[in-house]
Amino acid sequence: MQTALAPPATQDRVDRFDPSHMTQRCAGAGSSFQEEVPPPMTKQPTPVVPMATRDAGVSDTAFGHAGPFSEDGFFYKPVSTSQERLANETRMLELCTNGRQTNEPMSRFVPEYFGIVNRGQRRYIKLRDLLRDFSKPWLMDIKMGVRCYAEKELKNSKPRNDLYLRMVKMEGRMGREVLTPEERAAQAITKLRWMTLRDSLSSTQTLGFRVDAVVTSSFHKTAFESELFMAREDADVMAALRSFLPSRTACVGCTPREMACTLLIQLRELRQALMASKVFTETEFIGSSLFFAADTTGKVGVWMIDFNVTSACDTGLRHDIPWEAGNREDGYLIGLRNLERLWELLISQDEHWQ
Ligand SMILES: Nc1ncnc2c1ncn2[C@@H]1O[C@H](COP(=O)(O)OP(=O)(O)O)[C@@H](O)[C@H]1O
Ligand SMILES: [Mg+2]
Repeated sequence: MQTALAPPATQDRVDRFDPSHMTQRCAGAGSSFQEEVPPPMTKQPTPVVPMATRDAGVSDTAFGHAGPFSEDGFFYKPVSTSQERLANETRMLELCTNGRQTNEPMSRFVPEYFGIVNRGQRRYIKLRDLLRDFSKPWLMDIKMGVRCYAEKELKNSKPRNDLYLRMVKMEGRMGREVLTPEERAAQAITKLRWMTLRDSLSSTQTLGFRVDAVVTSSFHKTAFESELFMAREDADVMAALRSFLPSRTACVGCTPREMACTLLIQLRELRQALMASKVFTETEFIGSSLFFAADTTGKVGVWMIDFNVTSACDTGLRHDIPWEAGNREDGYLIGLRNLERLWELLISQDEHWQ
């Protein structure tokens, strides 16, 4: 996708990805960063790129794109302002991209990585555009795991008024109160409290995943701005999953149920791949997403994305046992099994496909 104001491809000049120089390149990329300011707020909800943005191309300022954009089969994600987050993300992307040469089973589910590039005055992670073969895709972002915060948050007791105010807003949306009288008096909560509330109000703690965003031709829902924030019971989560697939009448030469079946097969393949993967065993996945795409011609896909808070765990993890402080378990496979179970249920119930 070529945007009118996009700089020419020759500006893709920095840190071209070369697997043979991976370690060197990675160290170089990290050390050249100027801004090491941690993000001022807790991470905003995943900005699933809305279709309108993708179709039109992200508008450009004089010097570079403001946000993520896709062009010529590549997807450009702005680098994080935190070096730690960037290092987490590039570690995973490099392991998986290199793993394509060594038959690492996870690799086919992770977008190929082409290094950090400059476009105008901004730096981007250059990835294969997962949606390059889709026509007007419908999208869904599912955050995996039984918790969405790193264990280091357990030690962070900083009171945050911004998170308190956000939760007050969520209470208004939910129509019920979840903050304690003490928190109201202090008008502040910690990041840990914010995160655990979000995990417990959604299906994260119970199912090991939550639907964080759905984008279709008719709506763009993020957890912050919709009922997804509190989709916790099976029925609510299934409704969200179903809402991501086109209706029967919108589909051409295919049915949404067939698409759900293909997705289920892909999820099963993903689980097999993860269970055979060394990279997966040695990584703690926090805040990472499964990214789903579908279009009305019947094309579907699911991939692993977003590794900002995903880090190495050399002792190895099982991913299918409960988390206890200190064991670093993320429950990724618990989430994947539940996701498969709910797709199976959806497929088996006729009323979802009328
Ligand atoms: N390789 C890719 N191809 C196409 N779209 C992508 C790709 N990677 C990410 N996206 C889109 O960008 C959004 C944000 O990416 P993500 O990695 O989750 O970044 P963030 O750290 O901002 O949450 C995703 O929800 C998805 O819509
Ligand atoms: Mg994300």
